[in-house]
Amino acid sequence: MNELIKNNTIETEINVDSLWLIPQRDKTGKHKNIYHGNFIPQIPNQLIRRYTKEQDIILEPFAGSGTTLFECENLNRKYIGFDINQQMIDYIKDTMGQTLYQDKYYIENCNSLDEKEIDKNIKIAYNNLDGQQVQFVLMHPPYMDIVKFTDDKNDLSNIKNLEDFLDKFKTICKNFLKYLEINKYFAIVIGDVYKNSEVIPLSFYCMDMIKKNFKAKLKGIIVKNIEGNRGKLGQAGIWKYRALKSDYFLFKHEYIFVFKKVK
Ligand SMILES: C[S@@+](CC[C@H](N)C(=O)[O-])C[C@H]1O[C@@H](n2cnc3c(N)ncnc32)[C@H](O)[C@@H]1O
Repeated sequence: MNELIKNNTIETEINVDSLWLIPQRDKTGKHKNIYHGNFIPQIPNQLIRRYTKEQDIILEPFAGSGTTLFECENLNRKYIGFDINQQMIDYIKDTMGQTLYQDKYYIENCNSLDEKEIDKNIKIAYNNLDGQQVQFVLMHPPYMDIVKFTDDKNDLSNIKNLEDFLDKFKTICKNFLKYLEINKYFAIVIGDVYKNSEVIPLSFYCMDMIKKNFKAKLKGIIVKNIEGNRGKLGQAGIWKYRALKSDYFLFKHEYIFVFKKVK
């Protein structure tokens, strides 16, 4: 029986709709919105509460500015996260302060493409966190090169070519999904891109890549609005003009794909 509907009561704050219209970013606690390309805390909050329980371990190959980690702290979950951007690793460590050195969180600068480095770090993390497997994997990769994060050649945000991106993302999925317990869930948060005057449905290519290469059931396709996106705020007229002039539609949504790992 699902923990969320135990004793005939349901957890009413869990959003089971496939359309998430979230008017405002949660800016409470440690969430400061300092990283261009981050996601809103409500995304990890919803997913963690739906798919994990207290003390479970959440694993994240693209930790960014720590949004998921801060939600893990709020929700009493353990966390292992990696990112290639040293500035963000420093930021997270500063923000967490002493609490980072408890036996609940492990965060390191690490290239998620590098299987050996990942294996080495996860071994240390399991040791620190007293864990043996992870119960949820959350992946929020760069959307190809639309927001550049670092100059590192291994940074996925430096990839311009779709095939190359899918190939690298597949490697990262391989490096991380092997740590996920069978029958547990993982989610990908991703958007589409424009290239050479046409839409590249990057999100659907990624979903398809996962279905073709991993034993996983697709459990949900959630469309999330990006109303109030910083870059577009207060400039509706300019964006409308550009969209009409250059013949495109303004992206107002991203996808969250939820999968269940199966045998
Ligand atoms: C979309 S952002 C994640 C943002 C995060 N969800 C947040 O709320 O701050 C993608 C992140 O992937 C990182 N990244 C890109 N390639 C990577 C790689 N090969 N290994 C580890 N991290 C990588 C970037 O540095 C960036 O921080």
